[in-house]
Amino acid sequence: MSTSSPTGESPPRPIGATSATSTRLPGKGAGTTTLERFKAVVRRNPKIMQFYRGLDVPLARGRVSADPTRMDAIVAANRASLAGFGPWVDAEAMRQSRYSYGLSPDWAAAMAHAISATVTYSDLLCYAASCSSAKASYLEIGVSVGKNFWQLLNAVSGGALVGMDIEEINPPLRDKLALVAAEGAMVPRLDRFHYVSRSNDVCYCTGDVFDPGLWDRLRGRKFNLIFSDAFHDPAAVMYEWRRIVELDLLDRSGFTIIWDDLVSRPIRRVFNDIIADCTARYGLTPRQACLMHAAGWVGEFEPAHPIGIISTQGFVG
Ligand SMILES: C[S@@+](CC[C@H](N)C(=O)[O-])C[C@H]1O[C@@H](n2cnc3c(N)ncnc32)[C@H](O)[C@@H]1O
Repeated sequence: MSTSSPTGESPPRPIGATSATSTRLPGKGAGTTTLERFKAVVRRNPKIMQFYRGLDVPLARGRVSADPTRMDAIVAANRASLAGFGPWVDAEAMRQSRYSYGLSPDWAAAMAHAISATVTYSDLLCYAASCSSAKASYLEIGVSVGKNFWQLLNAVSGGALVGMDIEEINPPLRDKLALVAAEGAMVPRLDRFHYVSRSNDVCYCTGDVFDPGLWDRLRGRKFNLIFSDAFHDPAAVMYEWRRIVELDLLDRSGFTIIWDDLVSRPIRRVFNDIIADCTARYGLTPRQACLMHAAGWVGEFEPAHPIGIISTQGFVG
């Protein structure tokens, strides 16, 4: 994190780095200054952060509209899915990885903590999936060890789920899937799997989000749910958006997109630009877009993440 702003603005990270690698876990920082402690308190106050960060996204005028009973059921189901997975981190895969799946050793350890019922971005994604009567057609850009992907995989049935990451599919996740077809060892590539217990088709695309060849693997598909959570950099997020538009990947009958970690001001401005583009291209209204704060993949063990949502499915209004 930058030390220049009390609100935790951070500079762009290199490819492969994520917010997880640059955000401090609670309980750390012996010897931190009073100013650092003050910043940490401010960052943990979603209301202050919401106000401050919202100023950069004037076109996001909606808010999530979710039925509490339905959300509670989704949260409970997701915690059960997480509890049933086993260890997220495979030591050998970590050694062979390019960027440790975006996890520092502290973060890798934090993945093992059971999380509370505080609503996470995974719960929001699963709720959004439940807003559509169509089968889920889901794209996750940046899968890491698969913690969020696993929750989606267990929340939907008969769907098509595509993961994309510069890392190979995490072996503990791969071992829960039946291999249908593998393209070989080259990158970029797309391998096909099936998740039998939920009848979900799964594709895992290995490669760099900046590689047009990776995106070409998605040609002809339509997604009604997208999660952008790879390289949290304004250029990367805009590049992804351009590929989504150019390849016409959105299901125009209804879609929801969530962007995680809109931590820096430039990346929030890119989100605002995307809302403007969405309005022009797909007739979206600003009330169908929102900036909010939600817990992330380690739940209450880190400050709430600023996330952007665009939904034409009644999920934001
Ligand atoms: C924050 S993690 C994803 C977490 C996951 N979505 C979840 O919630 O469980 C970010 C992932 O993006 C991947 N990533 C970062 N830069 C990338 C790039 N340029 N191309 C493809 N993947 C990238 C990292 O390898 C890492 O696994």
